[in-house]
Amino acid sequence: MDAIRIRGGGPLQGSVRISGAKNAALPILCATLLSDGASCLRNVPALRDIDTTAALLRFLGRNVVVAAPRVDVAAGSSVRPEAPYELVKQMRASVLVLGPLVARFGHARVSLPGGCQIGARPIDQHLKGLKAMGCTIRLERGYVIAEGPGGRGRLRANEIYFDIPTVTGTENLMMAAALARGRTTLINCAREPEVEELGRVLNKMGAEVDGAGTDVIHVRGSERGELAPFDHAIIPDRIEAGTYMVAAAMCEGGDVVLDGAELGDMEALVAKMRAAGVEIASEGRSIRVRRRGPLRPVDVTTTPHPGFPTDMQAQFLVLMSRAHGESVVTETIFENRFMHVPELQRMGANIALRGNTAIVKGVDQLYGASVMATDLRASASLVIAGLVADQETEVRRVYHIDRGYERIEEKLRAVGANIERVRGAES
Ligand code: EPU
Repeated sequence: MDAIRIRGGGPLQGSVRISGAKNAALPILCATLLSDGASCLRNVPALRDIDTTAALLRFLGRNVVVAAPRVDVAAGSSVRPEAPYELVKQMRASVLVLGPLVARFGHARVSLPGGCQIGARPIDQHLKGLKAMGCTIRLERGYVIAEGPGGRGRLRANEIYFDIPTVTGTENLMMAAALARGRTTLINCAREPEVEELGRVLNKMGAEVDGAGTDVIHVRGSERGELAPFDHAIIPDRIEAGTYMVAAAMCEGGDVVLDGAELGDMEALVAKMRAAGVEIASEGRSIRVRRRGPLRPVDVTTTPHPGFPTDMQAQFLVLMSRAHGESVVTETIFENRFMHVPELQRMGANIALRGNTAIVKGVDQLYGASVMATDLRASASLVIAGLVADQETEVRRVYHIDRGYERIEEKLRAVGANIERVRGAES
């Protein structure tokens, strides 16, 4: 397994190109199942999760050509509406094929994703919505077996209320509703920009989606039971941009331009970074991040969009570990998303965990160590810590990083970091 080795050093300076958003590309790839034509996605990041989704679509019978930043998907000669455990266990977002498959083919057999490092992550809201649209759902030997009304019939529109806003749950039901008979209303939806982006693509495909990006979404299903193919360039990855924003702010003198990033989707993070004393300015189609003074401690609580994103919690915690004073970081989305804390403690961070709250007292120095990555964003936070730690940090199990950060070591090297990938390091 590869590792990433970092020698801590001075401030990052230069520019980084931000890739397309992983969490927008994944549902949009699954949306290609709603059409039999040839669709083209542009600005797709070269990531392991994209390859896993491509493998899943191929398993289902699609022809997929991945030549990032471009991915082409066309129908094959037959369809097998089944997502096997082997693929779903590699990536939970595979569950995003459930809605499109049952809506388009009348039945689907999709492995339950199971828990993961950051929490139990049930899919009850996805299933509740499909049932409300007339699906019969059975759980059998770890698989969800979904069938349309009366066997393999067309889904029926309904009014569906989410008990909690769920990103992939909202996306799954938007895709199912796009082929259902009638007008579906989804209430208490996730408002993430990636949900809005899926709405844009479904509209390009001929569905009538209204309100994506707000908490109430209306979807009128296509009369034909099929949508048109599309050509679409994916929005920039706000979490990748946020991660480099934090990396740039770790050292006084940091001055990094994030090319192709947009401030619009990052208000909560930007407000907190500014409160911490980091200068952030929009410059055309890029964002400039500068740190010219000491870091102030700032409290954050993760909440659904437009609140502070859970996907930035680990990175922000590392930033606060160097602030002058005490800050409180509260995680409300996932029950076990502090796995990076014991690793950061090994690097000298002063963090006390109390349930879903981390109390962080800034320290002057972090120390290089061998640390282990546990999930995607936790891994990124350890790399950021390594950038300012003394001597050498080795982040192991970086396959997590490769799921969601395109060429992270090259991008960081380009702004002055002393970082390299060690192939086949001890795990
Ligand atoms: N939840 C339920 N029941 C459901 C669905 C969700 O109880 O049926 C709970 C979850 O357990 C969690 C909360 O609702 O406590 C929110 O989870 P959500 O469903 O919104 O998460 P997700 O759709 O599985 C997406 C991202 C995650 C990101 C979360 C929260 C994708 C592919 N994944 O996951 O991204 O953390 O939303 O914003 O879009 C990442 O990129 O590193 C990542 C984990």
